[in-house]
Amino acid sequence: SKLANGHGNPRNFVSKMKEGKKRIVIFYGSQTGTAEEYAIRIAKEAKTKFGLTSLVCDPEEYDFENLDQVPEDCCVFFVMATYGEGEPTDNAVQLMQNLEDESFEFSNGSHRLDGLKYVVFALGNKTYEHYNAIGRKVDTLLTDMGATKIGERGEGDDDKSMEEDYLEWKDGMWKAFSEAMGVEEGQGGDTPDFAVTELDSHPPEKVYLGELSARALTRTKGIYDGKNPYPSAVKHSRELFQAGAERNCVHAELDIEGSGITYQHGDHVGVWPSNPDVEVDRMLYVLGLYGKKDAVINIDSLDPALAKVPFPVPTTYATVLRHYIDICAVAGRQMLGVLSKFAPHPKAEAFLKSLNSDKEEYSNIVTNGCFKLGEVLQLAAGDDIKLCPTPDNTTAWAIPFDIIVSSIPRLQPRFYSISSSPKLYPNAIHLTAVVLKYDSIPNRLVESRFVYGVATNFLLNVKYAANGETAPFIAEPVISEPAHVSLPKYAIEGPRGAHIEDNIYKIPIHVRRSTFRLPANPKIPVIMVGPGTGVAPFRGFVQERVALAKRSIEKNGPDALADWGSITLFYGCRKSNEDFLYKEEWPQYAEELKGKFKMHCAFSREPPYKPDGSKIYVQDLIWEERETIAKAILEGKAYVYICGDAKAMSRAVEDTLARILGEAKGGNAEVEGAAEMKILKERSRLLLDVWS
Ligand code: 2AM
Repeated sequence: SKLANGHGNPRNFVSKMKEGKKRIVIFYGSQTGTAEEYAIRIAKEAKTKFGLTSLVCDPEEYDFENLDQVPEDCCVFFVMATYGEGEPTDNAVQLMQNLEDESFEFSNGSHRLDGLKYVVFALGNKTYEHYNAIGRKVDTLLTDMGATKIGERGEGDDDKSMEEDYLEWKDGMWKAFSEAMGVEEGQGGDTPDFAVTELDSHPPEKVYLGELSARALTRTKGIYDGKNPYPSAVKHSRELFQAGAERNCVHAELDIEGSGITYQHGDHVGVWPSNPDVEVDRMLYVLGLYGKKDAVINIDSLDPALAKVPFPVPTTYATVLRHYIDICAVAGRQMLGVLSKFAPHPKAEAFLKSLNSDKEEYSNIVTNGCFKLGEVLQLAAGDDIKLCPTPDNTTAWAIPFDIIVSSIPRLQPRFYSISSSPKLYPNAIHLTAVVLKYDSIPNRLVESRFVYGVATNFLLNVKYAANGETAPFIAEPVISEPAHVSLPKYAIEGPRGAHIEDNIYKIPIHVRRSTFRLPANPKIPVIMVGPGTGVAPFRGFVQERVALAKRSIEKNGPDALADWGSITLFYGCRKSNEDFLYKEEWPQYAEELKGKFKMHCAFSREPPYKPDGSKIYVQDLIWEERETIAKAILEGKAYVYICGDAKAMSRAVEDTLARILGEAKGGNAEVEGAAEMKILKERSRLLLDVWS
């Protein structure tokens, strides 16, 4: 249509490139923000290396019919994440559809995209079966349509080595890029992305203190989603592990009443955490900003097409470090190179430079030690990082704050499988999370020091706060975690001016849809495998069926469930009296489901053990039930669900199922079993919700 090609159409990226004199456009397929970060990094590098500015685009906001009209001296980058079981991210669904629709040859034998230059960087996770499926597909489709790839396709593995994979790929790619585009290195320069200004006087009600969307203060209405998370009140939170357990597991009930948010069993909830006080303070001291941590600052983007300010402003230094950027991540190798020029003395500079250039040394010290940026800077400066940071034991660096904003990625939400059913809890989302704590890290250099997961530690702190408890916290002289988290100001006060009850805290959340769902027909048998917190979605599944059972019985009398299929849960934990999740709830569900619900538990760290003394796991119980399981799957057309650890557990369970099905078919796991597993997957009767 005329409009689609015309200027002024906001969905036409080609005219936007021409108007802005951009020779590069970068599309990112991003679900949690990682691909977007890499897209921005690529744009920055093109600017520093070649002086070329880029258009960085969310593909959802553009049309692709005119992909064939990209000028010959331009290049299109695709930075594409693969999500779940080989699916595109939500924002790339339309792009993929377009590319597939358009992949045809012109009748004269030429191809539609002859002359188009492109680069692909694929992001995925090797733990999953369809590793980088989307990036690879984009690559194949474009080549099929005649486009020319510049350099090799990059592939990053989120499980292990995303950063290293990127660093290894990019130099070759830029070399090929400079040849294909006829541009030379050294034409760019180190221009800042942002300008940070301190504001002398600013109305306090207009300063963002942890709110994640500009809408929070302007009070404009809008739906709650990943771009506008909902501050939900934590109505109730408790710990699920019995007293004496070494670990903590948090159960939280998040209020969504009146928010317009809905959810289904099996969906995920994204939680937006805050950083612990000790790390915020460390960064404030390292940056020499402690004295003016609450100063109001504005941040402007110097090239909005390249880098948008990633959080709402005006804000304060402390807020940025506490609520908006990821200061707890392991410090990136490239970032250390950028920061080396601000070192307080030559020794510190040399230390950072060598970490930046020596991959092995970086991996030994930083990766293995799980060192955060602030800690690496302290190490470099020669500070004693065993001590709780204070202005006296921390060396201040002269790093401009705009460099911090452009080199540290935004704090991203963490996703959890929702552990309730909306049929029982229409106004609440339940969440179940083990507090992550790593204590046996080689080369940590610092003894008796734990590394805590940011979001789960945050949830534990919310639990303390919601119950009026003081978090166990000994700060001096060595930090002993769980590290205390100061909650966002609005979490304590509620939306500005609103009345808030005692001990009600609000945390930002949004819901992500999933395809992890029960079959609609309750006659179909269901097999669920969920050891540890992998049981979370299955609590929701069982609740879903309990609600349905109550309704059926009310309507059709006590025999209403007679022709229902069985609902079988395989659960595993360490000990029956230690970390057995929702132990007191299961018998009641079983009663309400009139014998249709069966639960098999593997307690790995208590007797009985196997004859050879090894642990009994869920897959062993599945094997014991092989006859019933084979029958349910092959004859009853059962649905099978696995949730939890993506590596050892889910693989072992799949192997066991293949063995069971293979033998039931009179053959073996490798041939007949594998064939049955393939059928199950193709028909979406084997569904996985696994993480690594
Ligand atoms: P373990 O920690 O005693 O080895 C939840 O974490 C449960 O899953 C625990 O009982 C844990 O046992 C068990 N688990 C650990 N590795 C597993 C594997 N490879 N397969 C199945 N279960 C496993």
